[in-house]
Amino acid sequence: MSKIQLKDKVVLVTGASSGIGRELAKCFAREGVRLVIASLPAERKVLEDFAETLRREFRIEVHTLTGDLSAGDGPQKLHQEATRIYDQVDVLVNNAGIMAFGMFHQLSLELQEKVVAVNLRAYMLLMRLFLPDMIRRGSGAVFNVSSVSAFVPTPRHTVYGATKAFVQSLSEAVGEEISGTGVRTFTLNPGYTDTPLLKGEGFPTKLRFYRFGGKSNPAVIASKGVAAFKKGKRVYIPEKHLWFLFMIGNRFAPRRVINRISEFMVKGE
Ligand SMILES: NC(=O)c1ccc[n+]([C@@H]2O[C@H](COP(=O)([O-])OP(=O)(O)OC[C@H]3O[C@@H](n4cnc5c(N)ncnc54)[C@H](OP(=O)(O)O)[C@@H]3O)[C@@H](O)[C@H]2O)c1
Repeated sequence: MSKIQLKDKVVLVTGASSGIGRELAKCFAREGVRLVIASLPAERKVLEDFAETLRREFRIEVHTLTGDLSAGDGPQKLHQEATRIYDQVDVLVNNAGIMAFGMFHQLSLELQEKVVAVNLRAYMLLMRLFLPDMIRRGSGAVFNVSSVSAFVPTPRHTVYGATKAFVQSLSEAVGEEISGTGVRTFTLNPGYTDTPLLKGEGFPTKLRFYRFGGKSNPAVIASKGVAAFKKGKRVYIPEKHLWFLFMIGNRFAPRRVINRISEFMVKGE
């Protein structure tokens, strides 16, 4: 595992206006990086206030960019604008994400397409856009915020889980392809975490899963995630009990049992 020095590196974090992305931006700021933080245009003021706080607290350069990653050219625009600010981006943090909770055959097509656009298409395009330069320079990394949902089918947020499975496969496969180039990929795979993502329309206030797995704190997830990334890990589940469940239990239990448990756990109480 190759360790990474973050001081003065350029780090781009998508979805940095709230939740895990905001906490990741803080953790990277603490490392003395030069930051570019991005979110939707509606959060411009929130993002600018946050940037000012980071500049004051950590004495670092922070730039803000807003745009819609679900738009057809959203990822390309973000790539263009980020590389206009800095010639090179050293770490791409793909974090922006949305959730649609409900039965697959009932959720609107429009919403499901948007989940695919933000959680899957934007991740893939941004990786494809930033990686060639990193590989040419022989240094850099992609930090993908995935989920434990990447490892099991997720009834009631089926498309969400499927996008995370895609990102997981892509990230690990690309990481293998480029090993030896000085560039690497990393996935952070948290369990349910207390952020606005779990408060969207239709999402139950209490899931059975919380009784067993609890809800993680985004600041703790981000700080453990950045520490694991710095150590050179490739895939990282921050919660120990979930690591055991998803890395060990998941390998030995029959598929049908896993799917049943998954369906049971994601019902509201
Ligand atoms: N919370 C969990 O339980 C959990 C667990 C595992 C993994 N994750 C993953 O963690 C990541 C961050 O989620 P979170 O829980 O921190 O949720 P969050 O607080 O809702 O943050 C999501 C971020 O994504 C941005 N975003 C949403 N749609 C966008 C779009 N179309 N274009 C650009 N930016 C957009 C949001 O921007 P605005 O603020 O401007 O809307 C926000 O900054 C996601 O990839 C999620 O799948 C979350």
